[in-house]
Amino acid sequence: MTSNALSKFVAKPGHVLVTGGAGFIGSHTVDHLLARGCRVTVIDNLSTGYRANLAQCEGRADFQFIEADITQDLAPVCECAVKRFGAVERIAHFAAQTAVPLSVEDPVMDIQVNLGGTARLLEYARRNGVQKVVFASSSAVYDDDAPVPVSETSTARPASPYGIDKLAGEFFLDYYARYHGVAFTALRFMNVYGPRQDPSSYYSGVISIFLDRAVAGQPITIFDDGEQTRDFVYVTDVADAVATAALSDAGNCAVINIGTGIEVSINRITRTIIELTGSTSQVRHEPPRPGDIRRSVTTMTRAEDLLAFAPQVDLRDGLARTLAWVRGQALANTRRGSAA
Ligand SMILES: NC(=O)c1ccc[n+]([C@@H]2O[C@H](COP(=O)([O-])OP(=O)(O)OC[C@H]3O[C@@H](n4cnc5c(N)ncnc54)[C@H](O)[C@@H]3O)[C@@H](O)[C@H]2O)c1
Repeated sequence: MTSNALSKFVAKPGHVLVTGGAGFIGSHTVDHLLARGCRVTVIDNLSTGYRANLAQCEGRADFQFIEADITQDLAPVCECAVKRFGAVERIAHFAAQTAVPLSVEDPVMDIQVNLGGTARLLEYARRNGVQKVVFASSSAVYDDDAPVPVSETSTARPASPYGIDKLAGEFFLDYYARYHGVAFTALRFMNVYGPRQDPSSYYSGVISIFLDRAVAGQPITIFDDGEQTRDFVYVTDVADAVATAALSDAGNCAVINIGTGIEVSINRITRTIIELTGSTSQVRHEPPRPGDIRRSVTTMTRAEDLLAFAPQVDLRDGLARTLAWVRGQALANTRRGSAA
């Protein structure tokens, strides 16, 4: 489907609720939704997200931030936003516990936040006439042994509680669509990277951590032998796909992989990062982490057909843009340090 063919599905921008909107992908999606003329309410408990990610939106008449937890009753939480912007029409749902190893250590906590939060949100959607929910699912739903590239029809047999919760979330969406008329699109993201990805966590995305370490000249730790692969997709491409799905009927009631279709090893990423940064960082290896899959790359057919999705930013360009952001952050931190 071409962009022109897709444009006939585009709904009038309305009031969109973005859960987890202070996070990495959520905040870029907020930018895309505002650019498309939406009124946007963000709910985020700031557990891993930052108000700074939304600094560009603060004070806008079409934007509201609410600090709240997704696992609580959302009707009272959203009341002031509904008074201000009208009923919530569409939802982009990102709020989640995102660390796969933490889900292995504490599956009960993972279920409470990820599945409990999704159920809360869908109940809000059902009771308040929300038209559509776009769900941030994950490639972690696939079987570790599934042949690559994975397609949406590949076996889903998650290797972690995190993946189980994402898959169960998709079943909840399907149930609410069939029995309560709430449309959805579940987007199974491959590995997303770009500016605003927090490098400070042990559980963060590999590119953000490696760039941060390379810029600081600190050792880079590769888990396993480095020949494991991932499909890295740039965050603005992902945000664009979410905004398209959220504001139109494109991809209604479908599960869609969002990646690039290009398989890249961690060793290759590391080499490119070292080359781009000119870093002297040492590279070390440690044993594989529980729940991490060996190979990951997607087919692109469904994303192309249903969302007219075509990534615009290639890996080298994306790494260069992310590096510019990491350097900007490092400079800002140094300035803050010397002003204190
Ligand atoms: N980054 C990736 O490569 C990737 C890949 C697949 C799926 N995903 C999914 O995409 C979504 C966004 O991920 P991200 O990388 O931007 O992570 P992130 O940690 O930057 O964003 C998650 C946001 O949710 C918020 N949050 C967490 N628990 C919450 C709660 N109980 N109530 C309210 N807010 C809460 C956090 O504060 C944060 O702002 C997640 O659902 C994640 O599982 C991400």
